[in-house]
Amino acid sequence: MRKVTCTAPVNIAVIKYWGKRNEELILPINSSLSVTLHQDQLKTTTSIAASREFTEDRIWLNGKEDDINHPRLQSCLREIRRLARKRRNSGSEDGISRILNDKVHICSINNFPTAAGLASSAAGYACLVYSLAKLYGVEGELSEIARQGSGSACRSMYGGFVQWLMGEREDGKDSLAQQVEVETHWPELRILILVASAEKKHVGSTAGMQTSVETSPLLKFRAASVVSGRMAEMIESIRKKDFESFGQLTMKDSNQFHATCLDTFPPIFYLNQVSQQIISLVHRYNTHYGQTKVAYSFDAGPNAVIFMLEPTVNEFVEVVKRSFPPASNGDLFIKGLPVSPAPLSQELTSAIEGDMCPGGVRYVIVTRPGPGPVQSQDPSLDLLGADGLPKPST
Ligand code: DP6
Repeated sequence: MRKVTCTAPVNIAVIKYWGKRNEELILPINSSLSVTLHQDQLKTTTSIAASREFTEDRIWLNGKEDDINHPRLQSCLREIRRLARKRRNSGSEDGISRILNDKVHICSINNFPTAAGLASSAAGYACLVYSLAKLYGVEGELSEIARQGSGSACRSMYGGFVQWLMGEREDGKDSLAQQVEVETHWPELRILILVASAEKKHVGSTAGMQTSVETSPLLKFRAASVVSGRMAEMIESIRKKDFESFGQLTMKDSNQFHATCLDTFPPIFYLNQVSQQIISLVHRYNTHYGQTKVAYSFDAGPNAVIFMLEPTVNEFVEVVKRSFPPASNGDLFIKGLPVSPAPLSQELTSAIEGDMCPGGVRYVIVTRPGPGPVQSQDPSLDLLGADGLPKPST
């Protein structure tokens, strides 16, 4: 049996991807840019085994067997196996041909609760593609394949700051992710995820963006006239580590994405009352300081992602606790990187005064930019046992 285990990160877009020009190949209508989050806090782990003994390809996700015939999963499997065959035919293989006809068992888990509504498909598909590539000894550009699992997954193939160039070709060969800066480029940058109390299941990204492409004139305008300028500005502000400009663009782009959702017919609402209170809190906080100290971004759900520089973390966490007093259910409210208590000045307290919403934020994850996918050398992380089936704990 040949076996590999790899981990891959979550990414958060600061210039959003929303809308495809080709559904099957997952080609976007605009380029996008994201920050890869650190795997110490959020990651997917995937083990894949290939064996002559296996009678069929199988997959287990977060402890439950899932449908291996999912078309996007099949695209990734097919594309990696195609590359592995090509490599074998060119003579540069090492024992790969022996496993190319073997079936695979795939087992994948997230170290963060899926119930929290944090997008897991990006880390999931990035991890699947990276692990398959390691299994079959495939090297080179893999973001094109990860993209075919889930668009945003192509950006999780790199660490740090990553752009996904929309490309022009119809076959998608130039629709790729590229690292803009490495994860150590901006060491002071911190990211807080405010997990909002979820109410109901919202419209998934795939279906949501499809309706937006069909019905929203604002989305067309955004893709044609807004994004390319913002991409250039965003890259510039990251290169210069200019938080003022980075933060403003991040908030404006999140807002425009949600505006296109409202412009979709029938409209899609991802932000709830808690999200709106967070937006207003961030603006009150920044107004108090007369500068952009914190910046929000929201994806296809109510959770807020807040960017800031390290010296702001302690105080802003205190501000969040004040506006969203934690429900005293004994659960840890702050997870991830350590946070220390910080006193709030009288002026700040009155500046941020607004609606209080006890329990509105379930918990906060404190993290920072991190590296791309890695192969694990630690056998204790292996999710598949010697029999090729998920270990009991997974
Ligand atoms: C709002 O990548 O989940 O998070 O390509 O259909 O799988 P599919 O969609 P997905 O969409 C992500 C949308 C977003 C913005 C972003 O990550 O850029």
